[in-house]
Amino acid sequence: MLPGPSLLDAELRHLLREAIVEDRSRGAFKVHRRVFTDEAVLETERKVIFDHCWLYLGHASEIRTPGRFITRRVGGRPLILNRDREGKLHAFFNTCSHRGAVVCRERSGARRSFQCPYHGWVYDDRGVLIDVPGKDAMAPGLVESGEMNLVEVPKLGEYRGFVFINYDPDAISLEEYLADAKAVLDLVSDQGEAGMEVVGGTQEYAVNANWKLLQENSADGYHAATTHATYLDYIAARDGMSDNTRRMADPSAGRNLKALPPGEDLGHDNDFNRVRDLGNGHAVIASIGAAPWGRPYARWVPGWGEEAKEEIEEIGRSVVKRLGARRAELVINGDRNTLIFPNLVINDIMAITVRTFYPVRADRMEVNAWALAPVGESASSRDRRLRNFLEFLGPAGFASPDDVEMLEMCQDGYRNQLGMEWNDISRGMLKNSPSNTDEEQMRVFWRRWKKLMSPADAA
Ligand code: FES
Ligand SMILES: [Fe+2]
Repeated sequence: MLPGPSLLDAELRHLLREAIVEDRSRGAFKVHRRVFTDEAVLETERKVIFDHCWLYLGHASEIRTPGRFITRRVGGRPLILNRDREGKLHAFFNTCSHRGAVVCRERSGARRSFQCPYHGWVYDDRGVLIDVPGKDAMAPGLVESGEMNLVEVPKLGEYRGFVFINYDPDAISLEEYLADAKAVLDLVSDQGEAGMEVVGGTQEYAVNANWKLLQENSADGYHAATTHATYLDYIAARDGMSDNTRRMADPSAGRNLKALPPGEDLGHDNDFNRVRDLGNGHAVIASIGAAPWGRPYARWVPGWGEEAKEEIEEIGRSVVKRLGARRAELVINGDRNTLIFPNLVINDIMAITVRTFYPVRADRMEVNAWALAPVGESASSRDRRLRNFLEFLGPAGFASPDDVEMLEMCQDGYRNQLGMEWNDISRGMLKNSPSNTDEEQMRVFWRRWKKLMSPADAA
């Protein structure tokens, strides 16, 4: 029997040990619903996951020039990310060394110093305490000692413009942590000859559901046919009923369509249209030319009109010239929903969305999302990208509110735990090569989750 309503330490350990059941002999994979509802589980996640994994903080384009900064809450902590006058990145805990007030209240901007709003202490852009009002009342040398400077987050790393932090000073390097997910970040970043940039600030919304439900949902190819039927109807009405739309509207069809020639994929083998375990709890569902939507970079659909066709074909030719035919095919025609453990999603589909979500309670999360686009793309291409956000990815698009609704309904359903205690995540479990409508990508997440949450058991 799994524990009852109040979790004492021994019960919590028992729950964490038993919460994931993988039975290959039956092809069954179960997740206990208490991991979505219990505050004691969330507290453990904060300690063993969010305080030790690399967490996405922002994109280098948001602080492109010296002096730029953004403030952001990461894993529950307010931080400042800035580029100092010499161009070096810093991630500071956003808290004053005097009595703790948040030093910088602005969301973004440019400054060479930060003045705490409470008593006015001033720190420069390298975190050095440079001025204290009424300094004469302080002991000589105390302000200059350095012990009251802003404190930097133990680890800061950047991979192709994606900036991450880690609260664990002993953590492995970012590159090692990202493992094969680096290949996905490469494919995203390769779209911009002059780099990539965040467009239009941060999209923010909150969902009354456990944070892990959005990680599952963000690479769930199975739900498109039902949850996103409205979107698929819209696409069919606008562009005509294509084979791809018909297939996506039928979850029984699967989407393993086309194999690439060997040697040019995510670095594994030649079968691209399937789930990939990218290591360390990261996974991707990927396909080539199998999705019904247009990609501003650079896959045309009829709804964009004949006048857009020539420009999109020209973008395609320039990508082939720059990257070669095989890699260009992945960049132009590949759709990828990527999960980077624990809570970063990079969906490179009808547009590119970068999304994080943090728990505020076991049954509530706050979502931040950003649109990523090639630097210098044309106004018409940018317009198609933003329209795709409106049509699917944005907080008020055709898709995101539908997803939010489903996640909140799951969370509500978890109130019924008497005899209805387990989620099933076993789809495609006995296949050699699970497809995009299977659930292997979620099992990759959950195996990692279990390993961190119940290390003795994993050993
Ligand atoms: S708390 Fe910042 S100056 Fe006092
Ligand atoms: Fe969805």
